[in-house]
Amino acid sequence: MRILGIESSCDETAAAVVDSEGVVRSSVVASQLDVHGKYGGVVPELASREHLRAIVVVVRDALAQAEARLEDLAAIAVTEGPGLVGSLLVGITYAKALAFAADKPLIAVNHLEGHIHAAVLEARRRGQPVEFPALALVVSGGHTHLYAVQEDFRYRLLGRTRDDAAGEAYDKVAKLLGFGYPGGPTLDRLAPFGDPERFRFSLAKMKGNALDFSFSGLKTAVLRWVEARELAGEIQARRELLRGGGRPGLEAWLRATPQETLDLIACFQRTVIEELMRRVRVSAAEIGARAILITGGVAGNAGLRETAARAIAGVPVHFPTPELSTDNAAMIAAAAFPKLLRGERAGFELTAKANLGL
Ligand code: KG4
Ligand code: ZN
Repeated sequence: MRILGIESSCDETAAAVVDSEGVVRSSVVASQLDVHGKYGGVVPELASREHLRAIVVVVRDALAQAEARLEDLAAIAVTEGPGLVGSLLVGITYAKALAFAADKPLIAVNHLEGHIHAAVLEARRRGQPVEFPALALVVSGGHTHLYAVQEDFRYRLLGRTRDDAAGEAYDKVAKLLGFGYPGGPTLDRLAPFGDPERFRFSLAKMKGNALDFSFSGLKTAVLRWVEARELAGEIQARRELLRGGGRPGLEAWLRATPQETLDLIACFQRTVIEELMRRVRVSAAEIGARAILITGGVAGNAGLRETAARAIAGVPVHFPTPELSTDNAAMIAAAAFPKLLRGERAGFELTAKANLGL
């Protein structure tokens, strides 16, 4: 049994075919990084336009690579939210048209649920299926959410960010320091070259739900740190490296970044990881988690992977592969299987839900 998944919630147009054994038959992602990079973030109008340009080819490629025909599919799954409305609508409209034309069930998937399934897919692929209840941490540019996940894939929200998402904090700090967008991967690669003990940033104290997150204080602390120093020259030098849409390599970044700034990056990264892992530990104990799933763009972070792997004795931690950590459609198709089996179908009135919760 195969499902075609379609994802277009932000700046990636993606389609994939996944089968009921959890095998990814194809996963095609058209990234818009080059379009948005020069603006320092995703421009919604440009994103919708790029999705329109890419969607037909991306879906066709995903079907061709999987050697699947529309009539062989068990269902067509699509992200209904959360995300950018104009972007979501492109995927939803196309999925509806395909489902109507091929007379296939249409299944609506929450993007966050998709991210969780990316980790489930990878665990299956490795022959170490996830045991339940599981704790899921979804960390991306838009989300920092903790969920308890039951065997039937029902979710309970345990905590979430009250301000910036973890990936957003990475992107803002990177932009402030002249590293361009998206900043997470660059800061992650530079962090091992700095001393993570040199500067201390205080951890967020949460009133109310202690499992909620907050990253705006840390972001402001970094801003103050920068303001207290003469960094204009080095920041300008790094911005120069990005001129003309360049993608500087590690060596170039290192040459343009003095040791003190590398130490700052290491300390920022350490603090973010501490914030994330503290809540993972507490909530895993609280729900008696038998597995931990860490997923979303920030799950690609090398420091986070290393720390999480030894976070809790006896509880396995599952990460998606790097390709399935960032936005993709394999995770959307995978998330649709339990829904298909439960008989959940979306009607043709399905529409985009910018703030859809899970
Ligand atoms: O899941 P994703 O592709 O899109 C969203 O749904 O947001 O995540 C993108 C986010 C960006 O903020 C990016 O800076 C961050 O994930 N990111 C990272 C790393 N790779 C991507 N943050 C920290 N370390 C990384 N290695
Ligand atoms: Zn995402």
